[in-house]
Amino acid sequence: MAVITTVDDLKRIYKRRVPKMFYDYAESGSWTEQTFRENTTDFDQIRLRQRVAMDMTGRTTKTQMLGEDVAMPVALAPVGLTGMQSADGEIKAARAAEKFGVPFTLSTMSICSIEDVAENTTKPFWFQVYTLKDDDFMQRLMDRARAANCSALVITVDLQMLGQRHKDLKNGLSAPPKLTVRSVADMMTKWSWGLGMLGTKRRFFGNIVGHAKGVTDPSSLSSWTAQAFDQALDWDRIAQLRKMWGGKIIVKGILDVEDARKAVNVGADAIIVSNHGGRQLDGALSSIRMLPDIVDAVGEQIEVHMDSGIRSGQDVLKAMAMGAKGTYVGRAFVYGLGAAGEAGVTKALEVIHKELDTTMGLCGETDVNALSRSNLLIPADFRGRWEA
Ligand SMILES: Cc1cc2nc3c(=O)[nH]c(=O)nc-3n(C[C@H](O)[C@H](O)[C@H](O)COP(=O)(O)O)c2cc1C
Repeated sequence: MAVITTVDDLKRIYKRRVPKMFYDYAESGSWTEQTFRENTTDFDQIRLRQRVAMDMTGRTTKTQMLGEDVAMPVALAPVGLTGMQSADGEIKAARAAEKFGVPFTLSTMSICSIEDVAENTTKPFWFQVYTLKDDDFMQRLMDRARAANCSALVITVDLQMLGQRHKDLKNGLSAPPKLTVRSVADMMTKWSWGLGMLGTKRRFFGNIVGHAKGVTDPSSLSSWTAQAFDQALDWDRIAQLRKMWGGKIIVKGILDVEDARKAVNVGADAIIVSNHGGRQLDGALSSIRMLPDIVDAVGEQIEVHMDSGIRSGQDVLKAMAMGAKGTYVGRAFVYGLGAAGEAGVTKALEVIHKELDTTMGLCGETDVNALSRSNLLIPADFRGRWEA
């Protein structure tokens, strides 16, 4: 690997190595991409308070997320089609997370199945579900996750229908990719990716094909997806899913104080303040901007996690200092995966860890659990004056 010092370095290599269709799939937001952009630029507005001559020895980034020990408060977010970014991508990412000591979350829309990941890892991982109309299929998914020893169910609530991402439509995104003159020409320049794909059988949606009724081959999948997602989702349904699962649940996709309170009321164990990485409601505020209000409202009652826009350890520090008890990275680990497989995911985690550790020290802090808003310089108008 070339000398990698930032997550951005990994992104540059990733762009060279992975077909455009899948790079674009990860590197886009919905519609104008305003929310996608602001997820990162809003982090930049917050500055760090430099402290000196404070003993910075014995630093630790260790903490817990959902009662599980973690080497740092950074989990891998559920990312659909991860196995198209690199052959067997979910297995590679899960292994890197396990070795590093951070949670891995498997998406329903993964290429490797729940069983594939379980067979290739030794520790429990988290499983993410979209809320689907088909109760039998939901029940079977949960049974499979339970059998695979998954220790938490992440219920994503911000995708009852898809926010449009223009590039995916223009590229004709599919798994496996459709062979057109353009896509073949592009793939021929991405030979290491292609060799990897030729060497694996896992090229379809592993949790769905052969498991959902009527979906026996991938060609019937897109119509299945369009009709399967439950637009009637409400909090009663979430409460029902919690009962069906019977274990810990994390509600993912909260961006509003009222919704956060509702998640508390249905008995969720944690929430993820998230706008899906800017891929759903374009025009929504960034997660880091919404985080403090949500922490202030429900932080005493529920574990508040956040994602969307994290590209560095400094970002993790800012989120933790704002009151999050854990964070997730989506694109940051995908860049690493596409750049160099499992080693690339490890590299992304190492980069983030080093940045977090060093920045903590330079802020005069030795324990990630002790971070607070007093470590930050937050612009007076950061939360904004929005009239509802
Ligand atoms: C390519 C891609 C696919 C995603 N697929 C899913 C998914 O299947 N389920 C889900 O709950 N979230 C999904 N997300 C959202 C992530 O879990 C997470 O919320 C988001 O990536 C965080 O923003 P970040 O990429 O800026 O870190 C996806 C995100 C990306 C970039």
